[in-house]
Amino acid sequence: MRYAHIIGWGKYAPERVLTNADLEKMVETTDEWIRSRTGIRERHVAANPKDTTATLAVRAARDALNMAGVHPAQIDLIIVSTSSPEHIFPATACLVQDALGASKAGAFDLSAACSGFVYALSMAHASIASGNADYVLVLGSETLSRITDWKDRNTCVLFGDGAGALLLRASEQPGGVLSTVLGSDGSGGDLLILPAGGSRFPTTPETLSQGMHYIKMDGREVFRFATRVMAKATQEVIAKAGLRLDDVNLVIPHQANERIINSSMSALKLPPDKVFVNLDRYGNTSTASIPIALCEAVETGRVRPNDTLVFVGFGAGLTWAAAAVKWGVPPPPPKPPSWWRRFRLATQSPWATLRSWALRWGRRIYALIPGYSGESPYLPIGRTKETPPPVAPRPSPPPEEPPADGAGAPS
Ligand code: UT7
Repeated sequence: MRYAHIIGWGKYAPERVLTNADLEKMVETTDEWIRSRTGIRERHVAANPKDTTATLAVRAARDALNMAGVHPAQIDLIIVSTSSPEHIFPATACLVQDALGASKAGAFDLSAACSGFVYALSMAHASIASGNADYVLVLGSETLSRITDWKDRNTCVLFGDGAGALLLRASEQPGGVLSTVLGSDGSGGDLLILPAGGSRFPTTPETLSQGMHYIKMDGREVFRFATRVMAKATQEVIAKAGLRLDDVNLVIPHQANERIINSSMSALKLPPDKVFVNLDRYGNTSTASIPIALCEAVETGRVRPNDTLVFVGFGAGLTWAAAAVKWGVPPPPPKPPSWWRRFRLATQSPWATLRSWALRWGRRIYALIPGYSGESPYLPIGRTKETPPPVAPRPSPPPEEPPADGAGAPS
């Protein structure tokens, strides 16, 4: 039996902090309204254009890898959960893979909005349990400030930017991810949506002038949905792990609104000391909220070895997800890392940059060789840039013979 243990974790939030007082100068709102209706005091925003969903994710990932003493080349799979990807394609996960120098990792993005991190954790768990992967890096990263309408007070006071990472490793020691529960209800898809930029409404001057490239939300309906599913998903995931509510040491819910958290957790009769909340300082960072909160819970001593944790989230889709986790890093690999391994770990970042640079230039140089027709790691085998692949002639269809009994003949 293979178990998926969390062996490294990291978080990153951009430097710039936007307070409620700052927002008072931008839209018709007050610090009092924001705090009393949401619990948020401030949030981090990616004010520097160089900070993107991938760069935030890379910073969180490096912390997780360094903590675990794992080299990027050991990672088998990278899953980036995000609703604010760098592009529709390529996947942000591939940009992260390149920046880390994770040379043997598969990489893909996962879109399940604020529930995405728990969805990604569930996929990582399945990959490890099935034997498909030994090391999986799971990331939740968002730059929601880039898709927020800063003139819409219904949404702009809520969201923040940030990233969180967990590194999972296969182990035969029982523990790690115990159970997961995933759910969706697409009938509520219009309640929280980024309408344009996809195939339904490709970007046009009209979609831009109507602000359809910004988040739109029916806050009240999302609120009702959230309070309904958070308690239910928590109960389900605990039962699926064969546990009782009393066995849970800490619930780390999606950090969207303090009122949603309080109402769902009091429905479960969970005391406040068993629930972790940090949204006052981050706002709603969507899929990044649970891993950021987990990192802070560990840093502040709220999570101890052998604790049973529950992560539970909800979001656009509509989606919801929960995971039960036994916390505790399994024993490290038997040998202490050699000096060469320690050196490689310490130099992984410049090495990844060099590797990426060499691959890009290699690709360009191969493309320049006139008439080059040999095999290349950068061009499909046996093809040149100039010579298109031969197209096999279509076989001509056999002549139709009239059926002997006349069946099928037009009447
Ligand atoms: O990750 C999932 C993402 N989404 C969520 O989790 C959102 C879930 N929903 C919520 O958190 C809450 O519904 C909100 C915080 C968005 C809104 O709180 P609410 O208590 O549901 O307020 P409301 O929408 O019922 O609005 C109450 C009033 C309205 O004025 P009227 O119509 O009563 O005159 C709003 O126009 O508050 C007004 N309002 C504001 N006033 C000051 C809405 N936003 C603001 C604002 N500042 N920023």
